[in-house]
Amino acid sequence: MTRLPSLSLPEDELLFRLLRQLDLAPEASQRATAEALGISLGRLNAQLRAVTEAGLVRVTGRDSVDRRSRFAYALTPHGAAEKARLTDRFLARKLAEYDALHAELTGVSSGLLSTKHRTQVMQPHLAPIQELYVSPDSAQKLKREAADLVSWDLTQRQVCDLELLMNGGFNPLKGFLGKEDYESVVETMRLADGTLWPMPITLDVSEDFAAKVEPGQDIALRDAEGVILAILSISDKYIPNKAREAQMVFGADDIAHPAVYYLHHRAGPVYLGGAITGIQPPVHYDFRARRDTPNELRAYFRKLGWRRIVAFQTRNPLHRAHQELTFRAAKEAQANLLIHPVVGMTKPGDVDHFTRVRCYEAVLDKYPSATTTMSLLNLAMRMAGPREAVWHGLIRKNHGCTHFIVGRDHAGPGKNSQGKDFYGPYDAQELFKQHEAEIGLEMVDFKHMVYVQEKAQYYPANEVPEGDTVLDISGTELRRRLREGLEIPEWFSFPEVVKELRRTSPPRSKQGFTVFFTGLSGSGKSTIANALMVKLMEMGGRPVTLLDGDVVRKHLSSELGFSKEHRDINIRRIGYVASEITKNGGIAICAPIAPYTATRRAVREMVEAYGAFVEVHVATSIEECERRDRKGLYKLAREGKIKEFTGISDPYEAPTNAELVVDTEGTEVDYCAQQVLLKLESMGLIAA
Ligand code: PPS
Repeated sequence: MTRLPSLSLPEDELLFRLLRQLDLAPEASQRATAEALGISLGRLNAQLRAVTEAGLVRVTGRDSVDRRSRFAYALTPHGAAEKARLTDRFLARKLAEYDALHAELTGVSSGLLSTKHRTQVMQPHLAPIQELYVSPDSAQKLKREAADLVSWDLTQRQVCDLELLMNGGFNPLKGFLGKEDYESVVETMRLADGTLWPMPITLDVSEDFAAKVEPGQDIALRDAEGVILAILSISDKYIPNKAREAQMVFGADDIAHPAVYYLHHRAGPVYLGGAITGIQPPVHYDFRARRDTPNELRAYFRKLGWRRIVAFQTRNPLHRAHQELTFRAAKEAQANLLIHPVVGMTKPGDVDHFTRVRCYEAVLDKYPSATTTMSLLNLAMRMAGPREAVWHGLIRKNHGCTHFIVGRDHAGPGKNSQGKDFYGPYDAQELFKQHEAEIGLEMVDFKHMVYVQEKAQYYPANEVPEGDTVLDISGTELRRRLREGLEIPEWFSFPEVVKELRRTSPPRSKQGFTVFFTGLSGSGKSTIANALMVKLMEMGGRPVTLLDGDVVRKHLSSELGFSKEHRDINIRRIGYVASEITKNGGIAICAPIAPYTATRRAVREMVEAYGAFVEVHVATSIEECERRDRKGLYKLAREGKIKEFTGISDPYEAPTNAELVVDTEGTEVDYCAQQVLLKLESMGLIAA
């Protein structure tokens, strides 16, 4: 068979229109496609051969029963990326044409022209922005084909990143960073081509998964339910230097920083980079009407005729200080106000986004509706202070804003392991200022806002009239007041916000908690746990559940033995059940041996997401346990009839940071249970 000579690709304009047409109507007949493009069938055929040879398009089977045409076409991920690139150019050209026409007719610029490197007047960013989605028809096709690809189940953070990649929130990124861009971002805050981009957006995977894929391969990216959201065309597979990333991006390789902890303990060891072909956005069932893509917000601003928009980024409920700050910012910038809270991932321990959004909605009517709007942003924050502020600015520009509020300690992660702040309180403002022109957004900077008693009004800390009394409540103090059910003054917050916060953070004496006994077999854990349960039930108020070692092994873990692996599974199951009980306001009392420190720590983390975790070490010595030998197990263990017996032929790692240590030797059970009650009372978990 004679091979056809290689054909050269059509010029940009026709290539763009051809790819767009095949994306929009992948199953159209060749005649219809040729007509839509205004070219002959012969020319279309030649172009189709060229784009197929170049790997931009592939011939697929037809789904419909229409027999008039034998072929259907689909964009490959490579073709979709090429279409995205050409769309950018097409948009720029069209906008320039429109702008020129507008200027000719009116004598002024339309303001729709994309403006980079502007230093003086910031222009609105209201033209449509490039998204990475293919058309719904192509998406249907790609989705079916992607079902056969190797697939990666995205983590919560990766889903957030992917959504903003696909909808243009992370423009100009077109996918997860390859090695060259990654290293350049880490070292210089810029992509390899010099474009400002401060945050590595990477796809971290496990070693096992990385071993299954190679550059050049397409993989499907799925959400937690298995829905295919996108295709990644892998261009790079590399092992990052995480210590360097931590140092350069977050300022220190210190796991007290939440993103550094994530990097070392949650993120996989291998990164994959490459272009994304968007199939569908992640589905959100909550607050749907309040979520907007960059293009939706840009269209909204265009429709309302808003030209100057100042964005307020927040991960906290809005109190009066925030309201004053946003009012002042809008006035100072002579701009409309966008309240743009993050609902993706924020700092561990923050108020959950459901509660926060209810709080925002409660105070929204305190803003003038004609000049203010609110939209939720599904961003996964990194708490990277200065770098994060620059990143937030770029994201807000993509969402059509012209100004951005940067306050004190923007996106601050708290204290490092030496007890010092990771960043200076105004480092973020400084870094933003240095790059303001390139970000393309004007910063509205603020000092810390404080309440001045004599004036009954909020002022930036540096503008307080001399001699006046300053009042302030820190985040830690607010949490303490909520926990202990103490007053939160009117000057600090709005009654509606306080009511919402109290609903989700009742005082500790009304919250769920877990008491976790640990100790050797026969140490007395179950006996004390039973006594404690009865005493708590006598007090009433909250349901109490006892998860005793023996009982759990009968009902929850009957198939497990006593190897390290099985013990860990057993304890994690107990931890999961205890955390659910705690979340739902009950008291869980656990009494397993739980011999390993790391597993106890994991359970502590699970429970502390919802309430207090009280570890009680029942520190009866091995000699005493063996002397008691209630169940006769020590005898059997000594005789070698029971293998892997804790304290005899298996380890027990005694806790070093338990909330309480009880000694049962020569002490009555009732007194031990009493000691636990006193501890609970001192922690505010039961009423005095
Ligand atoms: S673990 O390590 O936490 O999973 O153990 P746990 O589930 O608490 O153990 C429950 C009871 O199993 C009995 N038993 C053993 N204990 C330790 N080592 C071995 N090999 C073993 N085989 C059986 C023991 O009676 C434990 O009950 P307690 O209430 O602790 O005496």
